[in-house]
Amino acid sequence: MKPLKFVSKSYEDTLAFSARLVRELRRADVVCLYGELGAGKTAFVKGLVKGLKMDPLKVHSPTFTLMNIYKGKIPLYHFDLYRIKADDLFGLGYEEYFYGAGITAIEWSERLEHLLPKVFWKIELRHAGEDERHILISVEGDTLQERFDAFVKDSHS
Ligand SMILES: Nc1ncnc2c1ncn2[C@@H]1O[C@H](COP(=O)(O)OP(=O)(O)OP(=O)(O)O)[C@@H](O)[C@H]1O
Ligand SMILES: [Mg+2]
Repeated sequence: MKPLKFVSKSYEDTLAFSARLVRELRRADVVCLYGELGAGKTAFVKGLVKGLKMDPLKVHSPTFTLMNIYKGKIPLYHFDLYRIKADDLFGLGYEEYFYGAGITAIEWSERLEHLLPKVFWKIELRHAGEDERHILISVEGDTLQERFDAFVKDSHS
């Protein structure tokens, strides 16, 4: 499946893009974020939160906890697995959140290894200059295909 590519020219562009994506998201959706340090993963989560009508200033990577919860009409569970190994995650109860009552966004999803869900929105962010980022979006799992196609169509109109 061909990913959708979005060229972000600024931090604000990235927030606007993810705020638009969140309109296609529903409770129990998982968003896996990939990209090196400073690629814009947290910025992307801020846009999701903004799109859910919450204050993006509330968004900070969970450093000393596994996860932050932003409580809106639909809650957002924000994981940052930078310092985590898949085996350390086991037994922490993260599964209650994935596919739970809210939307889950995970920075450093590569750390999930064998715990990677089967169905998720995949977001890859790449540096392309000081303020430019290339954002590739695709889905894993047939059940998201229809909503992905709707998002692609919407992006082109
Ligand atoms: N087009 C852009 N989109 C997103 N961020 C941008 C863009 N241009 C510049 N930036 C800057 O890049 C940085 C992105 O930081 P952010 O914390 O979102 O990255 P991250 O991928 O979460 O990094 P980390 O791996 O450290 O968690 C911010 O300082 C932001 O202002
Ligand atoms: Mg981050």
